[in-house]
Amino acid sequence: MATATTEPVRLPPGSRLPKPVQAIWFLASNHGMFGVLARRYGSVISVNLPGAGHAVVISDPALVKDLFTTSTDLIERPTFGSGTLGDVFGPGSTFSLAGEKLLARRKMVVPLFHGRRLRSYEHIIEEEVMREIATWPEDREFETLPPMTSIALGAILRATFGAEGAALAELRDLVPRMVTLGGLALLVPSRMRRDLGPWSPWGRHLRYRRRFDAIVDSLIADARADPALEERSDVLALLVQARYENGEPISDRHIADELLTLLASGHETTAGSMAWAVERLIRHPQLLSRLTEEVDAGGSELRQATIWEVQRTRPVLDAALRRTKTRVRLGDWVIPEDTNLISSIRLAQESEESFRDAASFNPDRFVGTGPKPVAWIPFGGGVNRCVGAGFANMEMDVALRTLLRELRFAPTDAPDERRRWRGVATVPARGARAVIYRRSAEASSGAHSASVADHGGA
Ligand code: HEM
Repeated sequence: MATATTEPVRLPPGSRLPKPVQAIWFLASNHGMFGVLARRYGSVISVNLPGAGHAVVISDPALVKDLFTTSTDLIERPTFGSGTLGDVFGPGSTFSLAGEKLLARRKMVVPLFHGRRLRSYEHIIEEEVMREIATWPEDREFETLPPMTSIALGAILRATFGAEGAALAELRDLVPRMVTLGGLALLVPSRMRRDLGPWSPWGRHLRYRRRFDAIVDSLIADARADPALEERSDVLALLVQARYENGEPISDRHIADELLTLLASGHETTAGSMAWAVERLIRHPQLLSRLTEEVDAGGSELRQATIWEVQRTRPVLDAALRRTKTRVRLGDWVIPEDTNLISSIRLAQESEESFRDAASFNPDRFVGTGPKPVAWIPFGGGVNRCVGAGFANMEMDVALRTLLRELRFAPTDAPDERRRWRGVATVPARGARAVIYRRSAEASSGAHSASVADHGGA
């Protein structure tokens, strides 16, 4: 782990280009700049970017692990531009908490997305997939990313709120707008975070937030009045009943902040991963047909390995971010206070040292073994590791199972889709375009699936 030090600062090598040039390079290359610099200077590099300032990018798995295990007395979550994510989600959000308070909250929230509980959400995912694919066109190429986003939003909304009917419909409409605006609102300097009318970003953010809070308040009131509250498995019902170790409940306002946090963190990421899964599978027809056979036989091992490999080769979040609270020694480097540390998930997972033939998409590498936590880090690590990792994995598994059971995806020899960074998640640049056919219709008309041998590839 990193340790506090008073040694003279010793920063890793890196780009000396002026900050604006680095910014253009960073954006134009969809973060590919870090890879170019790492190939030139090694697995720890210095960069200088607007918003992040002087930052250190780390892709050496041992140092990434050191960072994840470093005490929160020495490092913390960074600020973005003029604020933190907590400014948008509110003081009761995980993103606003640190130290003991964060640990206490995680003790409450992490078990909500684990083990037996996860199984209680499976039917929601299956219903969301079935609802969405009923409208998909056949025999015509279309973007699968938007419907994946709708599936993921529906899944997280229903699992967290237990909402149905009018409240669910309103949240389905409101939450994507709040999330898009939230990113913009963060760019508003803190002195201008006032209600300057419905057309100003912060003013609009406050209006959306009031609508959101009103819906949550009525759902909390319904939950408290629900005689079957104890049997419910949605996160809202569980948070209403949860107690900190000292016996205190979470306040209603903090419940609303946390629900918004889970919604915002939990849909674009999972949707992006599911879209990448489609993008990868239609370019690997033999794998696609092995997965379909496995689904038909009731298996899941290759599907799980595929989900891990999609996340290794196409992580939707490129990095886990921290910031030094004091001067620290990390490996050979001495990094000053207030420096952003960027653990590059993408570069760490592309490392030949950790993954043989790292550039190839090969789920079989994980069959029977599973990924090693140090090298495979799509959910980050340590005290800030993704709260919803178990939920996301379950969701991708059930979604993929349902898609393969219901649909035949036509293989393609189109070039790989490039990566496009959308402010938070990195998604397939063309929206994971695919052509599908309904297996039930093919079975009844006697049509049969395309020959895998015609398309080659693994
Ligand atoms: C494929 C889907 C997902 C990916 C790849 C992903 C990835 C990540 C990553 C990389 C982090 C930062 C970890 C770190 O800094 O070490 C994170 C944090 C977080 N994620 Fe996820 N996530 C996904 C889905 C979800 C879902 C479904 C939820 C909610 C149910 C969720 C809730 C959160 C929260 C609340 C945090 C903040 C944790 C903290 O800072 O203490 N994520 N996620």
